Amino acid sequence: MDYTAKTFNIPELEGISSKSVEDHIGLYQGYVKNFNAISKKIPEYAQDSEANAHALSELIRRRSFEFGGMRLHELYFTQFEGGAKALNPESALAKQFEKEYMKLEHFEPYFKSIGNMRGPGWAILYWDAEGQQLLAGFSGEQHQGHFVTLPIVLALDVWEHAFLLDYGTQGKGKYMDAFFKNLNWSLVEERFEKLTRTQ
Ligand SMILES: [Fe+2]
Repeated sequence: MDYTAKTFNIPELEGISSKSVEDHIGLYQGYVKNFNAISKKIPEYAQDSEANAHALSELIRRRSFEFGGMRLHELYFTQFEGGAKALNPESALAKQFEKEYMKLEHFEPYFKSIGNMRGPGWAILYWDAEGQQLLAGFSGEQHQGHFVTLPIVLALDVWEHAFLLDYGTQGKGKYMDAFFKNLNWSLVEERFEKLTRTQ
């Protein structure tokens, strides 16, 4: 089936320009479009997978890349909706941070240090229900390095395209500060609560 690009209700952000958000959403729409286009090609090429082996292998690699770009950007842009809201210290997520000896003032620099890893990618916080723990990781590009099967609680895009326009090539640190300044933590808390409720 074809996916439709979602729309986001993003308010004016502090430190991330409307132009940057607009361009970034354009990139996101490209991922959706490419995912749909590749998904249509694959069954066609699969009619003769031996003859189309090279084309198929490229499409198969590309498809999970496009899918990662689609889903991660949906999580990312949603996190700005409703405007900046601080983490509620009474929330289940704040309590989980405390339980793991990771207060917010420790978590933020830790998560930014993951975002500072080299190469295009994403800093991602996952919830591991079996281990009852939050796992933070770095996904190279957007389809590699994931904790497989684990749902995502928080996603921070650290590709250059996220900050180049506002801060230049050296601006990842300032952009990550702006990300946390604009983050609606209550949406992140809701995601976490939904995940922990269904256990
Ligand atoms: Fe992005």
